Amino acid sequence: MSVRRPPGGTGFSRRQLLRSATRHLSNVSDDEFVKQLTSHGLTPIWTWQTRVVRIVSRPESEVPHELRLQMVMLQDQAWPSDGPSDTAPWHDQSLNPLSVLLLDDADGVVSALDILSKQIAHRGKAYLASGISAMVTDQRFRGHGYGGMLAIAAREMMESSGADLGIFTCDAPLQRFYEAAGWQHLVGTVLIGGTPADPFPSDQFDKVTLGCFFSAKAKVARADFVGARIELFCGEIDKLW
Ligand SMILES: CC(C)(COP(=O)(O)OP(=O)(O)OC[C@H]1O[C@@H](n2cnc3c(N)ncnc32)[C@H](O)[C@@H]1OP(=O)(O)O)[C@@H](O)C(=O)NCCC(=O)NCCS
Repeated sequence: MSVRRPPGGTGFSRRQLLRSATRHLSNVSDDEFVKQLTSHGLTPIWTWQTRVVRIVSRPESEVPHELRLQMVMLQDQAWPSDGPSDTAPWHDQSLNPLSVLLLDDADGVVSALDILSKQIAHRGKAYLASGISAMVTDQRFRGHGYGGMLAIAAREMMESSGADLGIFTCDAPLQRFYEAAGWQHLVGTVLIGGTPADPFPSDQFDKVTLGCFFSAKAKVARADFVGARIELFCGEIDKLW
């Protein structure tokens, strides 16, 4: 498939390297990849610059170094840190962090997020819950629909992974962004992160809770999660998702 670039596009020098890395991650032809995206209702082609993108996922600790570096650079754009960027996994590995990357053949990682998962107990029942963490799009490409595609893909991945539900918090102004990707605003729901000894509730910030109910058990219990305080207790490293 031919990929037309706008004049002066960025990142061309990395193209070969990324091509080989993405082939390693997802060994399908561009045509097949586009077919897969389309079958999920995702549009791989944009209008003013014909771009082919692919979504790949790997456990955080197994993301190839070059892609991990790019992902961390995007996170640094959004949440600048004082020290040097560290490409070592930073999530609590007991939360099975899965990195989901949206790759563009020319520009590399343009959008990324991590899916974290754990068993929770709520109103006497056990659920496998997953959530989105550290969602970011390269600031050069925001507003092009990449983040929305990834938020949809994350929801579909959680469902096919066997999670009972997806549930996470985001800054209140981003509610509409996630709703457009099929997530439901759980009005009044508060996630309690941290630990039982040192709880870290989401209502100390201007945050809203988004959710999706996948399993029959979770669908039946949906009302239990609305307007509720949910003990996520995702630990001291991630604190809250
Ligand atoms: C949020 C983010 C990932 C969206 O990625 P993206 O690739 O630009 O997403 P899309 O192009 O699919 O959608 C962008 C939409 O989100 C909206 N949006 C993005 N950030 C927003 C914000 N802080 N407040 C309100 N709306 C916002 C845009 O206005 C746009 O809305 P529109 O479709 O009505 O025009 C990106 O803006 C980003 O990296 N932000 C910084 C990091 C961050 O806040 N991450 C979220 C952590 S929960």
